[in-house]
Amino acid sequence: MSMLSAIQNRDIDHHLHPYTNAVKHQQIGPRVIERGEGIYVYDDQGRKYIEGMAGLWSVAVGFNEQRLVDAAARQMEKLPFYHTFSHKTHTPSVELAEKLVQLTHGRMRAAFFTNSGSEANDTVIKMVWYYNNALGRSQKKKIIARNRGYHGVTVASASLTGLAPNHRGFDLPMPQIKHVTCPHFYREGKEGETQEAFATRMANELESLILSEGPETVAAFIGEPVMGAGGVIVPPETYWDKVQAVCRKYDVLVVADEVITGFGRLGTMFGSQKFGIDADIMVLSKQITSSYLPLAAVLLGDKVHSAITRYSGELGTFGHGYTASGHPVATAVALENIRIIEEKGLVENAARVGEVLQSCLRALSDHPLVGEVRGTGLIAAVELVADKASRRPFDPIGKVGAAVFETAHEHGLIVRGIQDSIAFCPPLIITEAEVRDMVARFADTLEDVSTKLP
Ligand SMILES: Cc1ncc(COP(=O)(O)O)c(C=O)c1O
Repeated sequence: MSMLSAIQNRDIDHHLHPYTNAVKHQQIGPRVIERGEGIYVYDDQGRKYIEGMAGLWSVAVGFNEQRLVDAAARQMEKLPFYHTFSHKTHTPSVELAEKLVQLTHGRMRAAFFTNSGSEANDTVIKMVWYYNNALGRSQKKKIIARNRGYHGVTVASASLTGLAPNHRGFDLPMPQIKHVTCPHFYREGKEGETQEAFATRMANELESLILSEGPETVAAFIGEPVMGAGGVIVPPETYWDKVQAVCRKYDVLVVADEVITGFGRLGTMFGSQKFGIDADIMVLSKQITSSYLPLAAVLLGDKVHSAITRYSGELGTFGHGYTASGHPVATAVALENIRIIEEKGLVENAARVGEVLQSCLRALSDHPLVGEVRGTGLIAAVELVADKASRRPFDPIGKVGAAVFETAHEHGLIVRGIQDSIAFCPPLIITEAEVRDMVARFADTLEDVSTKLP
């Protein structure tokens, strides 16, 4: 403990951290990140790291974009806060709602703002329930999500999340939420099965669940176009078509959680475009402001929007909203951030430089520890295994991932270990040369860790 600095000790004393082992934290203390520049962040010891995860899959424009600072300052000076309850509004929230609808080419009709992806998904569940109540379908309330899907941490959104650490110790998930298999061919595909047949099996599983629960009780299906926090899972090409056909057949709403995939991550403005998802509801956050300020949006298609609008008239209000819904500073920053994404062609950059990322990582496929390299655009993961041929994971699972995560810091690289899958999701401004540097640092890390394995 005496090795720790004053700021580290003060952190240990009074700061309970999210997603952290609190006992281990008391022993090792935090790494103090002080400033950022482009794709890099610096700690308080002056060490420089490539932020290979864009923070939390979120800093599209890099860590020192002055235009966002200026946009925030301008709005702070003009109107630092005003709410959007009870028929009030302000220009940034109007302009952002309009802009988001435009970006979907009119597929969506309106935006509802929250502060986080978790609140947005919580809001989605309430909206889906409200929608079905509006239509007089009081039984149609269950939501189907996927194992390894990530949708947040509120009581309801953590229930959508299909990861054990988000349920264990919290008495979750809620009974109205059901989960189906994660569409990860490498882990869930059967011997001899094609990707196409696997996708069909996934859609059949969904249909069976809807039928066994009773279609009159199933309201919505939610998924990330490409799963992020569950391990960067790219579904088979036909998966979304097949799953959507099942949803349409039983009048089940399709919700695309684009919190990571929105604003260019996959090389298209939205992941829905890439996979042909015609969602009834879309959820956006993270890259909407490059996480410079907290903001998320729930976008509603006409069908859901008109039913909710009408029902609010009957009930007298839409009794939902946050103090900071559509916060003027956050929405002003989002508008400027989206302008930058468009002006700098960052979506196109993600497509072009993303190919370099994918091919550089795939070049590591022959490494004895590498089981699978997966990803698309500027998001990827390398799954490490104990035995390549049988795909046998390490025992205990996650130990090698944690070692890679830790060791990468010594190579000036921040990645994420998701069990033994190492995730990459760099800022969208990353260049080809920086991608090559990032992968080289990862390869060095992998060598270090391999030599230490028993
Ligand atoms: C797809 C997805 N949905 C929702 C969330 C939750 O967002 P937040 O952490 O802002 O609550 C996340 C966060 O990582 C996410 O990746």
